[in-house]
Amino acid sequence: MSNINEEVSKILGQYSKDITKEIEDALSSIGPEDLREASIYLTKAGGKMLRPSLTVLVSESVGGTITSSIKAAAAIELIHTFSLIHDDIMDKDDMRRGKPSVHKVWGEPVAILAGDTLFSKAYELVIKSKDEINSNNPEECLNRVNRTLSTVADACVKICEGQAQDMGFEGNFDVNEEEYLEMIFKKTGALIAAATESGAIMGGADAKTVSAMYDYGKLIGLAFQIQDDYLDLVSDVDSLGKPVGSDIAEGKMTIIVVNALNNANEEDKNRLIEILKIGNESGNCEQVYIDEAMEIFEKYGSIQYAQDVALANVKKAKELLEVLPDSEAKYTLSLIADFVLQRKN
Ligand code: IPE
Ligand code: IPE
Ligand code: MG
Ligand code: MG
Ligand code: MG
Repeated sequence: MSNINEEVSKILGQYSKDITKEIEDALSSIGPEDLREASIYLTKAGGKMLRPSLTVLVSESVGGTITSSIKAAAAIELIHTFSLIHDDIMDKDDMRRGKPSVHKVWGEPVAILAGDTLFSKAYELVIKSKDEINSNNPEECLNRVNRTLSTVADACVKICEGQAQDMGFEGNFDVNEEEYLEMIFKKTGALIAAATESGAIMGGADAKTVSAMYDYGKLIGLAFQIQDDYLDLVSDVDSLGKPVGSDIAEGKMTIIVVNALNNANEEDKNRLIEILKIGNESGNCEQVYIDEAMEIFEKYGSIQYAQDVALANVKKAKELLEVLPDSEAKYTLSLIADFVLQRKN
């Protein structure tokens, strides 16, 4: 593991304890028991805690206390976890965070409800954060809560839109890069942007800083999903904690596929389409097909292209951090921008 991965994992681990405590408190009263267990299950399965840590870090970087932003941070992680539970049903993926997916253990109906429960608990948590904001002005506290609620709601709508586009793109081999980028902004970038924007709002930042932090989150979010698409091709299930080759099995449009389809000759293009269709029909993807697709991607430089696009986003994201005064938190935010492309899971 490279140094940057170790350094960032350690920092995320430090925030994780407080965030997990908030989540535990929020979920402990749910009944009946199977719904409670299904709701708590993934929150204890060892996610990276990237999004909630970003919320707290951004809040600290603009002078806010950890207490001001911790409930909003936990809320963002609950929204993320809800989206994963529903995503695994949609993507027919049997494993998440190294464990059987929620719908594999409790069945789809309870998994849908567990997702809905986490979604609703997230809003409750943001509302409860009103009393923990470090401002003596009650109107200002209410104002920050309202803005955070609207940021979170906007991200949730975008996640649904992005997920609908993602599924609509399956088997559509005419998707272009602009459409792909809009889709990943909505399904992944919007929540990471909401995480960083909420941190700025709860920490009491001015409008210019709030907007820069939203854009920072959006840009690292785009890079994050491009790296996720790449890892789905080259990683292994033990490192990833989720199935590999799942995107080929589902005939997903990734930037790598879009680029290869645009640049390949007729023969390679038709073969790639065939592989994506075979995967989609059988519902799983054998390694030989991944290898063959990889050969086509390598031949047309599509892997390198995806990495270049991701890197350009990370670079722009880091420039946006210049709006912040120097601090340990600011340094960590810059490190996290690099981590997004270095990470192995
Ligand atoms: C997975 O997110 C879903 C995507 C948006 C690609 P993470 O890779 O952050 O998942 P966890 O939270 O660490 O499990
Ligand atoms: C993640 O996209 C988007 C979500 C809203 C969860 P993926 O479907 O690529 O995420 P993984 O690879 O299953 O984590
Ligand atoms: Mg998906
Ligand atoms: Mg998925
Ligand atoms: Mg993926």
